[in-house]
Amino acid sequence: MAFKIGGQNPKSNTTGSESDYKKVTAGEFFAVAIWALGFVYRLDRLRTVLYVFFTSTNGLFNIAYAYVIARAIDLVLSLNSGGIFIFKSVYHILGLLLVLFAVQTVFQSVSGYIGNALSVTLRPKIVRAFYTKLYTLGIQSLEQPEINNRITRANDNLMNIFSFVDDVVREFADIVGLAGSAAALIAFSPLLILAMVVINIPYILWDKRHRGFIYQYSYENTEGFRTAGWTNSQLNSSISLQEIASTSSFSFLDNKYINFYNRYNKKWLAITKRWRLGNGSFGFLTDFVLLYGYFKIFSGLATGAITVGIVTFYTRLMSMVQNGLSNVFRGMNDLTEFAMRVKDTYQLFQFKPLFADGAVQMAKLKEGPKIALDNVSFSYPNSEKRVLNNVSLTIQAGEKVAIVGHNGAGKTTLVKLLCRIYQPTNGKIVVNVDNLSSLALPSWYQNIGVLFQEFNTYPQLSVKENIYIGNASEQVDEVAIRLAAQSADAAAFIDEFPAKFDQILSEKFKGGIRPSTGQWQKLAIARFFYRNAPLVIFDEPTASIDAVSEYNIFNRIYDFFKQKTVIIISHRFSTVRNADRIIVLDHGEIVEEGTHAALMSNNGYYAKAFTLQAKGYAANDNGVAGV
Ligand SMILES: Nc1ncnc2c1ncn2[C@@H]1O[C@H](COP(=O)(O)OP(=O)(O)OP(=O)(O)O)[C@@H](O)[C@H]1O
Ligand SMILES: [Mg+2]
Repeated sequence: MAFKIGGQNPKSNTTGSESDYKKVTAGEFFAVAIWALGFVYRLDRLRTVLYVFFTSTNGLFNIAYAYVIARAIDLVLSLNSGGIFIFKSVYHILGLLLVLFAVQTVFQSVSGYIGNALSVTLRPKIVRAFYTKLYTLGIQSLEQPEINNRITRANDNLMNIFSFVDDVVREFADIVGLAGSAAALIAFSPLLILAMVVINIPYILWDKRHRGFIYQYSYENTEGFRTAGWTNSQLNSSISLQEIASTSSFSFLDNKYINFYNRYNKKWLAITKRWRLGNGSFGFLTDFVLLYGYFKIFSGLATGAITVGIVTFYTRLMSMVQNGLSNVFRGMNDLTEFAMRVKDTYQLFQFKPLFADGAVQMAKLKEGPKIALDNVSFSYPNSEKRVLNNVSLTIQAGEKVAIVGHNGAGKTTLVKLLCRIYQPTNGKIVVNVDNLSSLALPSWYQNIGVLFQEFNTYPQLSVKENIYIGNASEQVDEVAIRLAAQSADAAAFIDEFPAKFDQILSEKFKGGIRPSTGQWQKLAIARFFYRNAPLVIFDEPTASIDAVSEYNIFNRIYDFFKQKTVIIISHRFSTVRNADRIIVLDHGEIVEEGTHAALMSNNGYYAKAFTLQAKGYAANDNGVAGV
């Protein structure tokens, strides 16, 4: 079948392997609830304790009111038989009511304030705890598809952690209130209480089932939401809109977005309609039980078994028990639903890094280390393919090595192994005398500086900070920042920025400008000159940089990092020719290595590719680099 543009891939609305999402067992529910309470408590101990206390006691006030008013009615009736109402006789009851009002107002205000304060102050703390957790899991863990799915959903539900805890506290308050009013009413009619509980059960089951449907439906559409979310953000971004406008593809993308939601909402509305109608019908059943309750109360009054005051007390209690039951049951369904949503976050917080860190502390090196790869092979966790195959390579201390090869040859993968983002599947990497996997990672990271092919840009930071962040664990060194900028051929354009080194780098911030793509790359290179680490790795550092700057930067790299070990990956052969040694990687294996001269006389891949590129330069000798 031909690919249909705009068609729906039937598999695209499911997100994968986790099949346990629909259910939350009682054990899981309590595990998630206890974890969430503990999590919030650790983030803000005092407010959490106060909030739990002031909120959970709220239900008891209503019972106290009902009772005091009942006593007041009876008292007034007994006094009033002579037709004279004497304020003096009931002032103590009115005083008691006033005290109750005042205390409840204080409790409600405090609980309301602390609830608001918690929901605001917890927000950044929860976000921070989440990204800190991801950071400690290690990058290898984060590249697992299953963890990625969880991260997406956990992120969507991050703020539900507080809502969940809030609901747990309210549920507790409702249970306290319900227990109080039920205990007071049970003496009058145990059967009434039993009937009220039983009649609520069909309602609760119906409600629970439909919430499950809604959650399952939205879960199965996670990928659809994500796809629509991408489209939405592209239609919101001035950078994406450049291309969208010039290709007139707005309507195409707009339709993709709205069609997904139209389709999604149609079924959602159908489920919700059935759910709400059912809730209403089952709710009606409870009214019959209330009628039975009124009948019992009024017949008690008729026979003189209870006083008028107690009639008011029981009728109030009855509606409190009914409301309490429906709140408690509905609250349980709310909580189960929240637990489903918070479960991903809970499970993510239980994950441990895939690899335990090593124990050997590497000192801060003065000079570049020697690196030896001994029969290193590697496959990515989610694929069988060997991306590196028995690579053995020794890079001497202070050597300048260039790695070249086709797209997909395994160059960046090799860098990732050197950074221990991944561990070799077979073989080992030895740094000076230590196995890389035995090192404590922070002690290794202080000795390396890696400019990744997918380097970071920090538009929210100034030029100076964009460079300083290369070595942010030490004090700012303004002189070194300027020197780094000069070495990366960036100083000239920085000096032309209105705010020079204090320039903010996005046109979306006040007074900001947007650097060109090549300027961004130069700033990233400056960052690694500033880092000045003993082992420097540049993965395609100059892909977007003009030929003159590229020539300058490469010459400076060899000079600047004289005492350091340098690995440069590049597709531009003219710029790697001055390396001490050039290594050609093909399909994860070293196929050639040697100096430029040696490889040229070898007449293999390197010589052919070099000659081809040199011709390109010659054909474009109007000063623009041909690649
Ligand atoms: N996270 C990953 N999971 C699975 N496969 C991957 C992953 N990253 C890379 N690969 C695969 O590993 C192979 C080597 O990729 P790598 O990025 O190392 O190539 P490269 O030599 O750096 O190429 P380029 O010149 O395009 O940058 C490719 O086939 C790629 O599809
Ligand atoms: Mg690469």
